[in-house]
Amino acid sequence: MMDAFDRFGLLINDRVVKTPVAIASMAGIVDAAYLLERADSIGLGFMGGYSIDGPTMEAAKAVTADGDRKEFLPDDPVAELKAQMALMGTSDVIPGINLRGSSPESFSSIAKALGDSVVYEIDAHCRQPAMVAAGCGEFYLKNPDKLAAAVRALKAGGVTVSVKIRAGVSEDDRKLAEQLWRAGADILHIDLMDYGTAKIRQIRNSCPLVLIANNSINTFERMRDMLSHGADMVSLARQSNERTLSGLDAAITRYADEEGWYNSPKQLCRGGDIRSLTFCCMPVKECPLIPTLTRIGLPREDYIQMKLDGVTETPLDTGKQTCFGSLAWCCKTSSPCMFRDMTLKQSGISRKEYMRLKRDLSDTIMGRIFHDVPSDKRG
Ligand SMILES: Cc1cc2nc3c(=O)[nH]c(=O)nc-3n(C[C@H](O)[C@H](O)[C@H](O)COP(=O)(O)O)c2cc1C
Ligand code: SF4
Ligand code: SF4
Repeated sequence: MMDAFDRFGLLINDRVVKTPVAIASMAGIVDAAYLLERADSIGLGFMGGYSIDGPTMEAAKAVTADGDRKEFLPDDPVAELKAQMALMGTSDVIPGINLRGSSPESFSSIAKALGDSVVYEIDAHCRQPAMVAAGCGEFYLKNPDKLAAAVRALKAGGVTVSVKIRAGVSEDDRKLAEQLWRAGADILHIDLMDYGTAKIRQIRNSCPLVLIANNSINTFERMRDMLSHGADMVSLARQSNERTLSGLDAAITRYADEEGWYNSPKQLCRGGDIRSLTFCCMPVKECPLIPTLTRIGLPREDYIQMKLDGVTETPLDTGKQTCFGSLAWCCKTSSPCMFRDMTLKQSGISRKEYMRLKRDLSDTIMGRIFHDVPSDKRG
């Protein structure tokens, strides 16, 4: 039996994520009790949203005034959040709190009060007019510098930061993702609306953050679609019932145990994201590889060296009879190839292990592509 880190390789807030299924916040509904009732099937859960300062607490009251929407309306958000975090106790679900705040100071003071045992999620998603007028929710998507300032305020407190966004609202989701990464965010939680896989791929290609795909991801087919285009996790809100959550958890666990890489990308020429460079061969023919390298500004020689360095002293550093002399250049197991499979057999590498090694190579490639952001460019 594999442990969760071997299976999914996911760490959030220095804790192993036991399954890439999360619960997304629903104001007035998702609290610690809600997460604990579903704890067997989720790895991460966002309580809230909670309004944490004067303007947003007033907005929350206004939102509930017509009686259609629920909100958590504690008089003392810090005391309430402490109580909710205490209820999570020793649960193996990583807790997150979705917060509506209207200034960097609101975020930094809540982080100071609550400490680093929880993931702080900035709500840049809510489109209720009162919230937007208070300077949070979607307001941040139209004012990305203010959102980046909120991220920096939280990061100054040494905590893990997620940003919940709605796709298609900011001027350019790719630029926003890059800006939030440079500001220090750890996680981007994306309500994809109707944009689907093309959007998650764009964002994957713009930043190395942990990506959580959200919106109607209620079937395994949809989940795998998101994972194979760049998502690390998926989250559910409206359909976060035990039956759906446990079905997704069981299916992705089985898939990971059989295939070796739970969120393996499609090959680049089949619409894969940047991680799929792990499956690409030498840049010698007319195919999407060369334009991709040009787009990301990676010289061919650097790409070649990066892949060769990435497999040095690993089991992939073999394969004289393959097209380019090393498994570094070999395709995904879903593409049939007797030369690759013969090499794997001779080297005693199972197909599942091969995919896990390709995942490691992809991590190395991602690290190299997005490494060393110059400090003068941060935020
Ligand atoms: C009743 C309700 C309340 C919500 N409240 C919040 C919130 O406070 N903060 C937030 O970021 N998203 C909130 N959302 C958005 C959800 O987290 C999620 O992004 C959206 O429902 C799409 O995911 P789903 O298709 O799995 O429901 C809310 C959604 C619903 C239905
Ligand atoms: S190098 Fe191979 S896998 Fe990559 S895009 Fe070209 S044909 Fe597809
Ligand atoms: S040997 Fe097979 S798997 Fe490897 S690059 Fe050639 S076709 Fe692809």
